Amino acid sequence: MSDTTIPLTQRPAWKALQKHYAEIGKTHLRDLFESDPTRGTRMSAEVDGIFLDFSKNRANDETLKLLIQLAKESGLRARAEAMFSGEKINITENRAVLHVALRAPKEEQIFVDGEDVVPEVHKVLDKMAAFSDRVRSGEWKGYTGKRIKNVINVGIGGSDLGPVMAYEALKHYSQRDLTFRFVSNVDGTDFAEAVIDLEADETLFLVASKTFTTLETMTNAHSARDWFLKSGADEAAIAKHFVAISTNEKEVAKFGIDTANMFGFWDWVGGRYSMDSAIGLSTMIAIGPDNFHAMLDGFHAMDVHYRTTPLEQNLPALMGLLTIWYTEFFDAQTVAVLPYEQYLKRFPAYLQQLTMESNGKHVTLEGETVDYQTGPIYWGEPGTNGQHSFYQLIHQGTRLIPCDFIGFCKGLNPLGRHHDMLMANVFAQGEALAFGKTAEQVRAEGTPEWLVPHKVFEGNRPSNTILVEELTPKALGQLIALYEHSVFTQGVIWDIDSFDQWGVELGKVLAQRIIPELEDKSGELKHDSSTNNLIIRYRNGR
Ligand code: F6P
Repeated sequence: MSDTTIPLTQRPAWKALQKHYAEIGKTHLRDLFESDPTRGTRMSAEVDGIFLDFSKNRANDETLKLLIQLAKESGLRARAEAMFSGEKINITENRAVLHVALRAPKEEQIFVDGEDVVPEVHKVLDKMAAFSDRVRSGEWKGYTGKRIKNVINVGIGGSDLGPVMAYEALKHYSQRDLTFRFVSNVDGTDFAEAVIDLEADETLFLVASKTFTTLETMTNAHSARDWFLKSGADEAAIAKHFVAISTNEKEVAKFGIDTANMFGFWDWVGGRYSMDSAIGLSTMIAIGPDNFHAMLDGFHAMDVHYRTTPLEQNLPALMGLLTIWYTEFFDAQTVAVLPYEQYLKRFPAYLQQLTMESNGKHVTLEGETVDYQTGPIYWGEPGTNGQHSFYQLIHQGTRLIPCDFIGFCKGLNPLGRHHDMLMANVFAQGEALAFGKTAEQVRAEGTPEWLVPHKVFEGNRPSNTILVEELTPKALGQLIALYEHSVFTQGVIWDIDSFDQWGVELGKVLAQRIIPELEDKSGELKHDSSTNNLIIRYRNGR
């Protein structure tokens, strides 16, 4: 069925989708719902407490059939199997892509270069658990004998966004006598504000960097060490206050962290897929090993679902394929992720790296420039705040913005009518976007004619609603894996390498060249006239 040598836009399913779009692209959701009273219940799928209502999409059964055919023609299943079985599908870096091994149960075997990686994964998890327990119980003491009260994760990108998102998401389950902060930006303000009210002898730094060479993280880590030593501690005290999370033992030792205090992971874990590796140490200290394992179980449950469930009922595949549908055929440029859960306030930011660093590519695996769009822009804010900010554009603007609403049946902080009000808003937004308000309805309210067009909601704006029972560690794992595999699905259809990130390199190299030019005012500048001019102004103004 699959012949991936045929370019995407030449595949039979693609051509059929083009024709199908011409037929139903303009059909209104009102008509789709009117002609099928079962649509709202039928077009949904559920796995282990994660319910996806995809009925408010501009799609019918034929659309889904064709999208699934496209997935088959694109070899989705085979590529997923290649990932799950440790093949080196990150071809530009010649690496396996095995974040799924990070949550594999002990009894599973997954081989990379002939070696089963699962025992190593569990060895690190056990080491993390022992360490976390010591910090949480107060047994791990700082150099003056005081217990650790503050944990600061120093990292950036995947070594920051996952930890900070998970900490915020699972704060409800966290040990409240510990303070957690996250330093990522090379802007000195980030570090200065993080430590401003902390005592060094009660503070533990987790230096999180896959490579242990990232400019921002190394700069912040050195500033952390200076700040710590300035408090009166000597070098020997560093071992009690700095641990490293990395794949690079050599650089960790060079920095001066005892490698006994290092938590390792592997080159087959991409930075943006690493929050359930040792990079999640801050999460484990916050919520405890049992909750961390519950989160891993959630990830794993979604992995199994993605690997084994028919595409018709496969949540990540459906979400990924619908994103393809809008990106390619409706020219949608973005996806809004709108969690109605304050604890998920950093979830959209986390997803931005996951989705855009993965699928922001312009060439195929074979190096050919694509003749279609790839990764859309993901963005969002928690509801209901967004409603009073940018929803206006989603409802009445000229762009089509597919939305993912995420809501929970139970709130974690029961407070009067708050949760019902919150959830009423999720349901109302999806309904308003899909069905809108016609001119007749606006007129019937007695609106003067000149005002009618301003008050019309044309509707037909698509959304998914993900409804989950409660935000638990397990549910968080399921949600993240849902998006990971949706991103994977999209990347396979687009025939791109979703696991490299060459696009971040050039800026890094140029910054390294410019740093000494800012520090030494006399050096000759050989950039373009704009960059030269900006540097001169900065030199004069600093
Ligand atoms: O921004 C590029 C990147 O390599 C990300 O992919 C990664 O998550 C981040 O930098 C941090 O890298 P490291 O963990 O090696 O410090």
